Amino acid sequence: MKITVKTLQKMKEQGKKISALTAYDTLFAAYLDRAGIDVILVGDSAGMVVAGYESTVPVTMEQMIYHAQCAKRGVKNALLVVDMPFMSYQVSPEDALRNAGRLLKEGGAEAVKLEGGKTVAAQIRTCVEAGIPVMGHLGMTPQSVNMFGGFKTQGKTSEEAKKIKEDALAVQEAGAFSLVMEKVPALLAKEISEMLKIPTIGIGAGADTDGQILVTQDMLGMFEEFKPKFVRLYANLAEEISKAAGQYAEDVRKGAFPSDEESY
Ligand code: KIV
Repeated sequence: MKITVKTLQKMKEQGKKISALTAYDTLFAAYLDRAGIDVILVGDSAGMVVAGYESTVPVTMEQMIYHAQCAKRGVKNALLVVDMPFMSYQVSPEDALRNAGRLLKEGGAEAVKLEGGKTVAAQIRTCVEAGIPVMGHLGMTPQSVNMFGGFKTQGKTSEEAKKIKEDALAVQEAGAFSLVMEKVPALLAKEISEMLKIPTIGIGAGADTDGQILVTQDMLGMFEEFKPKFVRLYANLAEEISKAAGQYAEDVRKGAFPSDEESY
């Protein structure tokens, strides 16, 4: 069944949890889609996971369009959401609309995600009024890593928590169809999830959000640079891949690969 923004709203109303994971290429998108994941996010985490940058800040529109096009070819049923990279929407609502439009027209996105609350409410409204569904993102918003002084939990003080709640309402009022909350205390995420009509999707935000998202390479044990405590390991592919590559190298060195059956 094709998942749309309306499906997610219905899932919240029916108390059904939403599953979301990231993908940056066709194969991974196809595996996740086949597994029944509801939302596939082409995250700007591609900058760290694929390109090896230290943060998502350097990621460009061209890179996001390329990754979106690759993922799109693997998706049949999941809702395909694509991240707007740093500085593609912050300057003005016009910039946001032009770039969100490119992610839909050139990248094949069905919705876009952008980071921030009140300060980007006009951007969200402009995109939504033009027919582009927008997912919000609050808490530890990685594009602001330089302001936060690292990938630190947000919303721990009552002042920070109040601001995140106000921002969540602003995102909903601006017309967003969903909200990602990253690395915030579980109680705050629960309160916001109960307060909002739109579905919330948590990452490091406890069990009471309407859905969960992880970076796929994190939960598969592939991305070894970064191991936040909110990631549950569902596989250890880094070890499997190194083991397989090592075995191949050994076979090549000793002339055990290819065999007669693997030759023409
Ligand atoms: O870029 C990304 O992958 C994200 C998720 C971690 C929510 O924004």
